[in-house]
Amino acid sequence: MRIHILKNYEELSKKAAEIIKSQIVLKDDSVIGFATGSTPLGTYKELINMHKEGLDFSNITTFNLDEYYGLPASDVNSYHYFMYSNLFDHINVSKKKVHIPDGEVKDVDKFCKDYEGNIAKAGGIDLQILGIGKNGHIGFNEPDDNMDVPTHLTDLTEGTINANSRFFDSIDQVPKQAITMGLGTIMKSKRILLLASGEDKAEIIEKMLKAQVVTTNIPASFLFLHNNVDILVDEKAASLMER
Ligand code: PGA
Repeated sequence: MRIHILKNYEELSKKAAEIIKSQIVLKDDSVIGFATGSTPLGTYKELINMHKEGLDFSNITTFNLDEYYGLPASDVNSYHYFMYSNLFDHINVSKKKVHIPDGEVKDVDKFCKDYEGNIAKAGGIDLQILGIGKNGHIGFNEPDDNMDVPTHLTDLTEGTINANSRFFDSIDQVPKQAITMGLGTIMKSKRILLLASGEDKAEIIEKMLKAQVVTTNIPASFLFLHNNVDILVDEKAASLMER
């Protein structure tokens, strides 16, 4: 696990975008796992600038980590909407190669199996981008006694519903469930890039890195078992870490 401490959010976003760019330059048909949330927004802005300067996304395949269950893709709070408005509409990614879990699917089990199958068919994820929740979740893999391994439907915790209510008119509108890649799906990625920014994330970053244990109480701690992980933190998120 490589920990990089960046001066601020802007530097973190630039570094993350550079890592993604290198992946695509090395292998133009890379399979990239994208994440939503506030943290990767700066990275996506950098990628859009890189595209304006010539970075070609036309051969990449993408798989998103998760989607709210119960929201149509057209809803402004869906992760479909997020990805298109913040990235995909501004780069030359092929819409046919974009995969985001379907928040309205009826046969969830079949959908999740197919999602896993499609990742495998694409050759596996070369680089998966992750944020981290204040409770240590990655994707919507929330702390629990047991963790689902593959892509699955999950209940959101109260903390996550509260945290995400900032985007909705009222907390009642926040979906209570989501379809998410499982920890097994994430761990199969060849390389993982976790981004954490701001004081809000300092406690969980310190807790996870200090403990050096793998626990379902901190889903992100499973990344200790992966051999190709970069964790990018800005100074605020690193403020409680021991140097
Ligand atoms: P954030 O979300 O980037 O909006 O902080 C991260 C997460 O909950 O995974």
